[in-house]
Amino acid sequence: MTITTAPHPILAPRQVERLIVGQATSDGDGVKLTRVLTQNLQRRLDPFLMLDAFGSDNPGDYIGGFPNHPHRGFETVTYMIAGRMRHHDSAGNSGLLSNGGVQWMTAGRGVIHSELPEQEEGVMEGFQLWLNLHSADKMIPPWYRDIPSAQVPEVQAAGVTVRVIAGSAQGTEGAIQRPRTAPLYLDLHLAAGAEFGQPLPAGHNAFVYVYRGELDIAGTAVPRQRMAILANSPASDGVVLRAGDQASRALLIAGAPLHEPIAQHGPFVMNTREQLIQAVEDFQAGRLA
Ligand code: CO
Repeated sequence: MTITTAPHPILAPRQVERLIVGQATSDGDGVKLTRVLTQNLQRRLDPFLMLDAFGSDNPGDYIGGFPNHPHRGFETVTYMIAGRMRHHDSAGNSGLLSNGGVQWMTAGRGVIHSELPEQEEGVMEGFQLWLNLHSADKMIPPWYRDIPSAQVPEVQAAGVTVRVIAGSAQGTEGAIQRPRTAPLYLDLHLAAGAEFGQPLPAGHNAFVYVYRGELDIAGTAVPRQRMAILANSPASDGVVLRAGDQASRALLIAGAPLHEPIAQHGPFVMNTREQLIQAVEDFQAGRLA
């Protein structure tokens, strides 16, 4: 689905508050990845809890995948750039995530799932974002949707392709809408020198992760594999991104903060320590499946 529109004018673009270099780590069964949004940024980037970037052409870096593990209290959004990943969960869902596809899973009161590569060679590249749930929604039933690449809405502006995973851009509704956290999740492909403006409510927390080329955001150069946290100025009305002298690609992610306590123990994210203890007990007693 492709729609062509004129770019949206932004009069008071946000500045870059800080550039973040991700931390190399591994998770699951030895999957090497870069944790871009780490636990110490959860308050600043509320309602987002984590962003992992994975990308390798060495099967040893990804072949183990993420065998059965639980989640409770938030949503996971997996976006595949290259490669194939098979998903199974305790709610009976299964799906194959491949190039350009998205998997949106609401863990709610709990799921146990596995995410395993379905390839033994080649490039595996993608992202996993964790989006918090409001305290009133943490124990909702689990929900799940696979969005194949062809069903991710796309908008064309001058030199820019926008893949609208969540929220809306240029008048095009994304694949997923969430009223409470109002997540915006755009994958932007900019030709060399192309510019893109996106309105953002001033109170929403927002960041950009550049994964190809380099962007300029309000005078700050944002190189590849950097996350730019965008300042929340009350007067700002959006963000303007401009590609340098090469084609560039970036994720633009924003959302309405929940302003609630965050208590995390590994794959469980609740509001209090007692709720975390309950989550561990429920998992151990088999009540999450
Ligand atoms: Co998981």
